[in-house]
Amino acid sequence: MSQQDQRVAVITGATSGIGLAAARLLASQNHKVFIGARNADNVAATVKELQNEGLDVDGTTLDVRSADSVHAFVQAAVDRFGTIDVLVNNAGRSGGGVTADIDDELWHDVIDTNLNSVFRMTREVLNTGGMRHKNRGRIINIASTAGKQGVVLGAPYSASKHGVVGFTKALGNELAPTGITVNAVCPGYVETPMAQRVRQGYASAYDTSEDAILQKFQSKIPLGRYSTPEEVAGLVGYLASDTAASITSQALNVCGGLGNF
Ligand SMILES: NC(=O)c1ccc[n+]([C@@H]2O[C@H](COP(=O)([O-])OP(=O)(O)OC[C@H]3O[C@@H](n4cnc5c(N)ncnc54)[C@H](OP(=O)(O)O)[C@@H]3O)[C@@H](O)[C@H]2O)c1
Repeated sequence: MSQQDQRVAVITGATSGIGLAAARLLASQNHKVFIGARNADNVAATVKELQNEGLDVDGTTLDVRSADSVHAFVQAAVDRFGTIDVLVNNAGRSGGGVTADIDDELWHDVIDTNLNSVFRMTREVLNTGGMRHKNRGRIINIASTAGKQGVVLGAPYSASKHGVVGFTKALGNELAPTGITVNAVCPGYVETPMAQRVRQGYASAYDTSEDAILQKFQSKIPLGRYSTPEEVAGLVGYLASDTAASITSQALNVCGGLGNF
């Protein structure tokens, strides 16, 4: 593919972890990549870091919980790079606890950040981003193995990710005749800042050390270790490629065997 044929990808939450690895990979696979996250300094630093690697990357602030922010972000991406070919809905947060003690604010924020955002971003990219008028497109939602099985002390998170998987399957079937594929990538445990926060939360809930939680989680994974952000990004890169044209409405795990379904 020539420079001219570069495709445009937008990635939410691409200043850290899985989103950052996906931005780097897609940019190295001949995409112009537009990234967003809430912290403006982190967005600027990430853009600079990736540009210094010779990659075609730009970005701006984005809060996926705000319809206005989502609109402005997608418009900025189109103004900068042109209409959008690939959307990676990656931004997300952890969150849970003893369900009887969860307040409305936490519940709504987890659902808004992880699930409502996926609908909001997708609709905006189909319309403002111009994807619905193309005969090829890729929508890739970063869900979780927690979107297929229940996670103890993670009811809002698990509910939000099951919602993402359901949305993916319905939209994938709806858009199948158009050449736009819609898939979910379901990571298990991936070593990122979020994973560290999750271990802190469980250590506190079970009154033990973070290292004990790490051992406990690792022992549940057949491979015996966390996946890396780059391993998750690898599937994103494949799903964005032409070879993946016949894969749609799927929820595919990258989890060292943790999820067997
Ligand atoms: N790590 C794991 O073990 C694991 C497992 C399964 C699934 N996942 C999923 O993978 C995705 C990425 O997780 P990660 O582990 O890479 O997390 P991370 O390292 O915490 O990175 C999260 C990214 O999302 C951004 N973000 C958070 N809230 C946002 C909002 N409201 N609007 C826009 N951007 C927002 C963050 O930047 P700002 O804070 O500056 O906004 C950051 O760039 C999430 O959807 C997560 O649920 C992770």
